[in-house]
Amino acid sequence: MPVKNNISPVRRINQMEPWLGEEEKQALCKYLDSGGWLTEFKQTREFERMIAEYVSSQYCSVLSNGTVTLFTALLALGIDRDDEVIVPDLTMIASANAVVLSGARPVFVDIDPSNLCLDLDLAEKAITPRTKAIMLVSFNGRSPNMHRAVSMARQYKLHLVEDAAQSLGSFYEGKHLGTFGQIGSFSFSAPKVITTGQGGALVTDDARLADNVRKIKDFGRRESGVDFHETLGYNFKFTDLQAVVGIEQMKKLGWRVQRKKEIFALYRRELGNVPQVKFIETNLEDTSPWFIDVLVPNPQSLAAFMKERGIGTRPFYPPIHSQPPYGDRGAFPVSDYVSARGLWLPSSSFLTDEDILRICGLIRAFHDSSQT
Ligand SMILES: Cc1ncc(COP(=O)(O)O)c(C=O)c1O
Repeated sequence: MPVKNNISPVRRINQMEPWLGEEEKQALCKYLDSGGWLTEFKQTREFERMIAEYVSSQYCSVLSNGTVTLFTALLALGIDRDDEVIVPDLTMIASANAVVLSGARPVFVDIDPSNLCLDLDLAEKAITPRTKAIMLVSFNGRSPNMHRAVSMARQYKLHLVEDAAQSLGSFYEGKHLGTFGQIGSFSFSAPKVITTGQGGALVTDDARLADNVRKIKDFGRRESGVDFHETLGYNFKFTDLQAVVGIEQMKKLGWRVQRKKEIFALYRRELGNVPQVKFIETNLEDTSPWFIDVLVPNPQSLAAFMKERGIGTRPFYPPIHSQPPYGDRGAFPVSDYVSARGLWLPSSSFLTDEDILRICGLIRAFHDSSQT
């Protein structure tokens, strides 16, 4: 479907993902004119159906965001106080915070430099009698060997929870990420591949888990408006207004995934021979990179150079072990190394090829003129 590209080049470059277009506006107006429901109802069910179909999962529930999805997933699996959950040291902090929220303890493990995801060898060494789950984050749509992750979880009788917040549109050997473990989580916050402003989804093939999720997100009850609460639950529900937007965004997903791949390929072609710029190996058959990520010797100064020229970039997350709520726990040399060098380049699917050529020209000029 044609996607309008009617925003200024500067905004195209600075924003990581497109804002909502005419299609979403029209769908919202039509829905409201029809006397549409505000809280979750038929549009929400349709949005869930579309996600489940796209990722080939039996069940999908949408929730308020991609942090409470992780918390809900852990709760639905029965993760409890004093349990340990293995989490990669380089991820968005929500992956670890959701574990803390569940009462369990996140155990940080270093990442694999070849894909920036959990190092499975180190994860195996970190398993203790208290370990109950592995939270596998598919960082920017890439993943480790998922067959190995699944068999390791089985061997040690652990739950495999996939934090696939960044991976809608990304696969491993043709199977959608988020569908290898017991339960997979996605986020629809504003800079994701598709967005509903805020929002998240849980997918699973396990009917019992799906049922637990539905109860937890609605105060622990089975039926809205009937105040019998089978379990402890919260209000993590979605709204039909967001679902109307989500349905339109899902219609654009195929185009966005394709465009992300083209953009990544163009950056790689243009910067592949700049010795200071390193790309993570990415199989574009399977992976739709959400952000264009590179490792450079000095991301802060490149970011400042680009900013002076009106181009927004963003340094990688600090390693979680270095963030104040977690103190300094152990040594994570790969995550430290990658975090100190990682930079996200402009990645909006609305970028034109000319925009990218200009950005790459500036990155080349920066490295030609700098010592690093
Ligand atoms: C890996 C990962 N997990 C969890 C989240 C949290 O999602 P949300 O912002 O929807 O709460 C994000 C958000 O960027 C993320 O990247």
